[in-house]
Amino acid sequence: MEKKKLLYEGKAKKVYSTDDKDLVIVEYKDDATAFDGKKKGQIKEKGELNAEISVIFFELLEENGIDTHYIKRLNKRDLLVRDLDIIMVEVVMRNIVAGSLAERLGVEEGTRLKQPILEFYYKSDELGDPMINEYHIYALELATPEDMEILSNQTMKINEILVNFLAERGIDLVDFKLEFGRGSDGKIYLGDEISPDTCRFWDSETGKKLDKDRFRRDLGEVEDAYHEILKRIKKEGTTL
Ligand code: TMP
Ligand code: ASP
Repeated sequence: MEKKKLLYEGKAKKVYSTDDKDLVIVEYKDDATAFDGKKKGQIKEKGELNAEISVIFFELLEENGIDTHYIKRLNKRDLLVRDLDIIMVEVVMRNIVAGSLAERLGVEEGTRLKQPILEFYYKSDELGDPMINEYHIYALELATPEDMEILSNQTMKINEILVNFLAERGIDLVDFKLEFGRGSDGKIYLGDEISPDTCRFWDSETGKKLDKDRFRRDLGEVEDAYHEILKRIKKEGTTL
């Protein structure tokens, strides 16, 4: 399958059409941004690392009954995926307080939550992805109640699968962001990526941050963190 036309270029990925109208190729870039694109940089080999990390998570989720857009990895940076009509709601799940939640509620980063928190954000770079609730979503017709039930249930199931998988590898899944979309068959699939760009991963023993917060907060050892995550989740003997 070859790339045809560049359909869209985002901050971390490019999307190309293919000969098959239902499939697109996603190219993972090394570019990194934070704070709505105000901070810009590059993380060496991030494209390759995030493509490989995402594939591992997509395959794990598929094995556990989650429908994802992932079809196959074409080369180091390029994934063949189902073309989705993206639902403009970013779904964030939190197990441990960090980032914007710590700031918003004044709760100390690192506090373990009694139960996971599900949040929704309006996917709009222009507006800086403002937080919304289900009333906003229905009033603005971003998604239907039926869609939101699927998004919420799938996200809770994904959280359970990922938390357990990562715990066995010495990683705390602090929080993560998901995007979903509708395929041409009308079904809702998990889209986008699952990587240190879109999740917070902390070493269970030391609490060391192994994700994009190292870039956002200028903590150094950014590339090392992405390599460490891949090393811990990779099955022995799988390479591309
Ligand atoms: P937050 O604490 O900044 O709201 O981030 C929550 C989670 O969402 C965290 O795992 C990082 C991820 N995230 C993205 O994937 N994209 C974004 O634009 C932001 C702000 C957060
Ligand atoms: N990638 C996002 C941006 O540039 C934010 C982030 O991941 O912190 O806005």
